Amino acid sequence: MTDAFAHFPPGAKCTRCREYPSIRLTSHHVIFCADCFLHYFQTAVKRAMKKFGIAQNVPLLVAVSGGKDSLALWDVLNRLDFRTKGLHVNLGIKDFSGASSAAVKQFADSRGLPWSEYALEEALGYTLPEIRKRTRRKICSVCGTIKRQLLNRLAVREGFTNLAMGHNLDDEAGRLLGNMVRHRTEYLEKQYPYLPSSHPRMPAKLKPLYRLEAHEIRTYCKLADIVPVESKCPYSRGATSHSFKEALHFLEQKMPGTKRDFLFTYVDRRKPPMPDSAYGVCGVCGEPAYSDLCSVCNLLGQVREKDEKDNINQ
Ligand code: AMP
Ligand code: FES
Ligand code: ZN
Repeated sequence: MTDAFAHFPPGAKCTRCREYPSIRLTSHHVIFCADCFLHYFQTAVKRAMKKFGIAQNVPLLVAVSGGKDSLALWDVLNRLDFRTKGLHVNLGIKDFSGASSAAVKQFADSRGLPWSEYALEEALGYTLPEIRKRTRRKICSVCGTIKRQLLNRLAVREGFTNLAMGHNLDDEAGRLLGNMVRHRTEYLEKQYPYLPSSHPRMPAKLKPLYRLEAHEIRTYCKLADIVPVESKCPYSRGATSHSFKEALHFLEQKMPGTKRDFLFTYVDRRKPPMPDSAYGVCGVCGEPAYSDLCSVCNLLGQVREKDEKDNINQ
């Protein structure tokens, strides 16, 4: 979807306050002035937080990548008087990680917000490019697995029981479509924007932007003076999730509102999933895992093995 900013003829009126509008939201069939758009945006997040049962005094760790979604999330939670701290994982992807970290720093400094940064290399002994060289698995999904566990681990270390993530409506709708197409019932059951903690070493996860589309978040960033990292991750091209998002984008253009309907009719009728009782702990690192070895330790085992082989062959 393109930018929501639009030009309107003289005499046009904001759907909410009747002032002159500057923004069109086709999926809602409304036109807004900037103030009413901000009101709409904040209301969507408030509504999500209410649904998750999270009050303003609950400390939230916000996982910030430096991209538009997580910075907008941190900004709106802060404006709504939630108690937040940012957490950034530096993946060690040359220019991209440097720029991402700088975007987080610039944002946090300009608003006086606290945050921590951890380097993947320090946590696991390898940067993401180093892992990429030593595995045949798709790096995007490897990265997702690593980030998931690391964010859990760091949230516990930082003393938080709630971790807020920046996934938006397009991400969630794309994931829903992907899971439906592949009949992944175990994932479909867990497709909900709030997941309770399933283990003492695992925070509850919330996605307060699940009611907002990517283009609405871009518009919010412009209005709220948020400057996200401009570059894209060099490894993200070709991820299958993009194709599902594109399919929904196609339908959305033909029938505005389809994407929202698709996600909300699924999610809003459901109750939050129960904590997952299948978790044990990894015998190597002690993190929550479905079997004796967690997927990160499994991956690191392969990576180290490859390292050793390469050293022998040198
Ligand atoms: P992605 O999977 O890259 O679309 O990211 C989804 C969400 O995960 C983001 O909105 C952030 O909340 C979080 N996230 C992604 N990358 C990082 C990172 N490097 N550090 C901290 N949080 C991240
Ligand atoms: Fe994980 Fe690009 S951010 S592969
Ligand atoms: Zn492990």
